[in-house]
Amino acid sequence: MNKKLKIYLAIIYSIFLITLIVFAFKFGLKVDLINLLFFSIIGLLISNFSMFFNSMTEISTSMNLPILITVFFLFNPFWAGLISAIGTVAVKFKKKQFVWYKFVFNRADFFLAGAFAAWIFKISRFHLDGNSFPFLSVLLASIVYFLINNLLVYIVINLADNDVNQLSLLNYFRELSKNLIVSYFLGLILLASFIYFGRIFFSLIIILLFIIKDFFYSRLQQMNSYTQIIESFLKVIDSKDHYTEGHCERVANYTYHLCNEMNLSRAKSERIISIAKIHDIGKIYVDDDILRSSKKLTNQEYSEIQEHTRYGYELLKDIDILNNDLDIMLYHHERWDGMGYPEGIEGEDIPVGARVLAICDSLDVMITGRSYKPPMTKEEIIEEFKECSGKQFDPELTEKIIKLIKKGFFDDGFKSREKIREIELSYN
Ligand SMILES: [Fe+2]
Ligand SMILES: [Fe+2]
Repeated sequence: MNKKLKIYLAIIYSIFLITLIVFAFKFGLKVDLINLLFFSIIGLLISNFSMFFNSMTEISTSMNLPILITVFFLFNPFWAGLISAIGTVAVKFKKKQFVWYKFVFNRADFFLAGAFAAWIFKISRFHLDGNSFPFLSVLLASIVYFLINNLLVYIVINLADNDVNQLSLLNYFRELSKNLIVSYFLGLILLASFIYFGRIFFSLIIILLFIIKDFFYSRLQQMNSYTQIIESFLKVIDSKDHYTEGHCERVANYTYHLCNEMNLSRAKSERIISIAKIHDIGKIYVDDDILRSSKKLTNQEYSEIQEHTRYGYELLKDIDILNNDLDIMLYHHERWDGMGYPEGIEGEDIPVGARVLAICDSLDVMITGRSYKPPMTKEEIIEEFKECSGKQFDPELTEKIIKLIKKGFFDDGFKSREKIREIELSYN
C-alpha cells in the first residue's frame, strides 16, 4: 500500500470515528429495535444475494440506496449510518483472505454516506416537504448518499493504483448517475409501500424487484455468452498467424481508453469494445497461406484479405443481440477520406465506432509490427498519426489518440481493464 493511500485511509477512519461519536450524542441512541433488525437483515440479504441491474461492465448498482431511503425516513442519522454500514457487509462464503483495512474502509464509507444522507433528509423534510410525501428530501438524501459513497471509493481507486488514474471523474459519475435516478424511483416506491402497507408489502416489492432483475440479468448474460463463444473463435485466428496473436484483445483495450477519452456513454463504449474484441473474426474464412504470407501480396490475395470485414458481418448478422452494432465491424477498414474498404464511405458516414476501431486497429499494428513492417517507436507512431489525420483517420479522434499516446497510456503495451475491475470490486 502506498503512503498517500495510507494517509487517506487514516483520514477516513478518523472522520468515521468522530462522526460516529458526535452523531450518537447529537441524535441519541433510542431506537425501534424491530425495524432496526428488519432493515439490517434486508440489507444483508440484498448485499449477499445479488446486485440489482448488474451490468457487464465495472460499475453496478445495488439495491442499497432504494432500501436506505425508507431507513432515512424512519431512523435518526446515527442509526441510519449504522444500518447502512451493517447492511452492506458482504459475507464471504468462500474463505478469501480478509483484508481488515478494506473492510473498515467500506464500513466507514457506507456509514458516512448513510448518516449524512439521513441528516440531510431530516433537515430538508422539515424545511421543504413538511407533512407531504417527501419527494424532495428523498432526492436530496439520495444525491448526498451517492456523492459521498462514490467519491470516497473513486479516491481509493485512484490512490490504490497509479495505472488507473485515467478513469475520468466525469465519466465515472455520469455513468453512475443513471443508477442514481433508478435508485431514486425505486426508493420512492419502497418508501410508499412501507408507509401505506407496512413491512410485509415492502418485502413483497423487494422480491418482485428481484424477479425483474433476473429477467434483465439473464439477457445480459446471454450477450456475454455470445461474445465469449466468439472470443474462443478468435483463438483460432490467433493460432493461424502469430503476428496477430492477441491483436483483437489489445485493440479492445485501446478502444476502451479512447472511448473513455471521448466521454462516450458506458452503453455505447461497451458495444464498441465488444465488437473490437471480435472485429477480425471474418479472417477465419481467409486462406491460411495468405494470412501467414510474409511476401508482398498479389492484388487478388489482398482483396481476399479485405473480404474479412464482410465475412465477419455475414457470419454474425443473424445474432439478434449483436446485429445492431455489426456495422462497426463491417466498416472498420473504411478511411476518413473515402479510400477505404469495403464500401468507400467517408467522414461521418462511417459509424463512430468504426472510426474508433480503425485508429486502435492501426495503433496495434504500429506497436507490435507485422511480418511486412517492424514495430514503430512512440515518436514514429505520433508522427504517423499526425500524417494520417484527416486522410485515413477522423482528425478529432486522431488528436485524442495522440494525446493518450503522449500521456504514456500505451507505454507498456496496454493497461488492462481487468486491473481496474479488480481494484474496483475489492473496494466496492
Ligand atoms: Fe481488420
Ligand atoms: Fe484488426
